[in-house]
Parts: sequence; structure tokens; C-alpha cells
Amino acid sequence: MAKHRIAVIDGDGIGPEVVAEVMRVLEAVAGPAGFEYETTFFPWGCRYYVEHGHTMPADGIEILSRYDAIFLGAVGDPRIAPEEVTGVGPVLAIRFGFDQYANIRPVKPLPGAPYPLARPTPDEIDFTVVREATEGIYVGLGGRFAPDDPQVAEIAAMRKIFGRSKELALQTGVYSEAGCRRVIERAFRLAEERDGKRLVTSATKANAMKHGMALWNDVFADVASKHPDVRSEWNNIDALSMRFVLKPESLDVVVAPNLFGDILTDLSAALLGGLGFAPSANLTDSHFPSMFEPCHGSAPDIAGKGIANPTAALLTLAMMLEHLGEDVAARAVEDGVREVVARGAVRTPDMGGSASTEDMGQAVAEAAVRLVECA
Ligand code: IPM
Ligand code: MG
Repeated sequence: MAKHRIAVIDGDGIGPEVVAEVMRVLEAVAGPAGFEYETTFFPWGCRYYVEHGHTMPADGIEILSRYDAIFLGAVGDPRIAPEEVTGVGPVLAIRFGFDQYANIRPVKPLPGAPYPLARPTPDEIDFTVVREATEGIYVGLGGRFAPDDPQVAEIAAMRKIFGRSKELALQTGVYSEAGCRRVIERAFRLAEERDGKRLVTSATKANAMKHGMALWNDVFADVASKHPDVRSEWNNIDALSMRFVLKPESLDVVVAPNLFGDILTDLSAALLGGLGFAPSANLTDSHFPSMFEPCHGSAPDIAGKGIANPTAALLTLAMMLEHLGEDVAARAVEDGVREVVARGAVRTPDMGGSASTEDMGQAVAEAAVRLVECA
């Protein structure tokens, strides 16, 4: 019997609440689906920061490398630690540490979930964003400089206003040929596997970012030429954002550089009914673990009230189970969520109901177990 070792970082805010429901559903389906698992919780994030001054231990990556998968709830609470501290660790530290370059964010609205558009109908939308997650503007290169610092002399001379500012900040993006290639390649493979339109849309912006996006576009054209069975196209990120709202049904697989993908996937979460519905996986090709985390943040404003919607986290669990090879359990969890949301008897306040996080988790656990048993 397969035994999966799962590292859990439940994190801050609503993280622990939604993760508790993930654990409930995991525990419910494991036996009937015929697998074993073991979880280890790591209290990293703001709780850890208060005690240690950083959000995870220095050997955190080494510790996590012994697991088959990582499940992360949500990290961050601006009342406790600055955003630039909580974002960089553990989320970015883990993505970078394990080379989790492919951030997969499916956009398939659930029947019964809140839906913001007059058209198309939600069942016409089914696409996936493949976001590059280790490069671009996220690499953290740059710094803050006085304009007379010799390191930035040339830049300070570029514009009058630069020279007379008290301070200059540089934020450098890095786009590597191999890094662009592997994520674009993955997007094309996904388009081939999906039962969809076999279309890959590239999110780009070469009209303003003449180095990084020109490289991205060249690699995209090259990879596209090797997949003649898949149609390909590019959209500048501004126009593509509009298309996410006006013509989302025209999309199949969208591949995007890191920051563009980050922004686009909060936009696409709106198509799903809000951040409470948007799952995500950070996949690596290395032998290290991949990480599974809902797209939402820690929502400190509603933390501790038991009203957070665990749907995103539960759909993320389904992605993790699929990744671990537990297809029956994965399908049952996804269909269980689908069934509970469609039935509408148990709805958290973001869906206009008054059910608790726990009520939703319980309802999904029951549905998922029944689905495993009939599978
Ligand atoms: C996400 C989040 C992260 C990101 C933050 C927490 C660094 O917004 O997963 O979308 O920007 O990647
Ligand atoms: Mg984001």
C-alpha cells in the first residue's frame, strides 16, 4: 500500500482553518481509497517570525526535501510581519528551493458558485494558467540606492528626475532561455493532454519589456513550432486581461511569466467565484517535492471566525492527490466539492450562506467517501 509523506505548513490567518478541513477530507478518503499517509506540521510563517525573526528555519528546505509533497495553507499577516518578509519565505523560498517552476492554476467554474459575468455561461469556461514561478521580477535582484551611488551613476543620469530623487530602487527581472523553455514546453504538453481546444496563449509584453519578453517570445515561437498539433498565439498582458473578462471561453492553456501570471490568476479567481475557489499547484521536475497551496492569502480580517471557504484548499488537495498518483481519491475529492457546491445546502458566507468552514469540510468529506466507495 502506498504511503505518502506530506509536509504541512498551515500558516497564518485562515490557513489553519482551511487546512483542518483538508486534513479531515484526506483522512476520510485515505482508507476507502486504499492509501496511507503521514503528515508533519511545520509552524512556519508569522508565528515562527514572532519567535525567531524569520519565517522558517535556515535548514527548512533541507527538512522539506524528505517529503513527497508539501501542502501550504496561507502565509502572511501584515499586522505581524511586513509583506516582503512573509512573501519571500516560505512561499518563494520553497518554490525557488525546489525549482517549482510550473505554477498550475485551473479555471473551471463550479456550478452553483457565485459568478460575476453576464456572459459567457460558467460552463463555457475551462482553461488553465501555467505560470512561471521561479524567474522574472520575483528573483529579488536589485536594491535601493542614493542617486550619487557610483553603482547607479549611469541610471541616475538617464532622467532628470532620477538624479534629483532622494533614492532610486532597482528591481531586476531575470528571464532565462531554459527557464522560459521548460514552462512553455509544459504548457504545450498540457494542451496536448487536455480534452480542450489545443490552444496555448502566451501572456507577454514585448512592446515595453524589450529584453525579457523578446526572449520569452522567441522561445515561445520555437516551442510552438515543435508542437504543430497545438495552435498557439500571443497576447500582450494588458489585452489578455481584458480577454479574461470579455472572452474567457476562448482560452485553453495560458502560459505566463511570473508576475503576469500572479495578477492574471487573481483575475481568473474572480471567474471562479472569488479566491475561496481557486486551487493551485507548484510543480517541479526535480526529485524534490512539489507544493500545493490555494491561490488565496491568509485573509486576516476573517481569520478565526470559522467562515473561510475551504473550497480552494480542498480542490488543491485533489491536485495533490492526483500528483501522488491517487487518482480515485483525487477525482472523489474534486467531484465531492463539485457536488456540495452545486447542491447549495452548505454554503459559506462568501457564497451567500451561513455555513461554517467546518460544515463545508464535513459535507465534502461525506460526499468524497461515498464517491470513492462507488468508484
Ligand atoms: C500567489 C501569491 C504569492 C505570489 C505571494 C504570496 C508571494 O500572491 O501565490 O499568487 O505572488 O506568487
Ligand atoms: Mg497571487
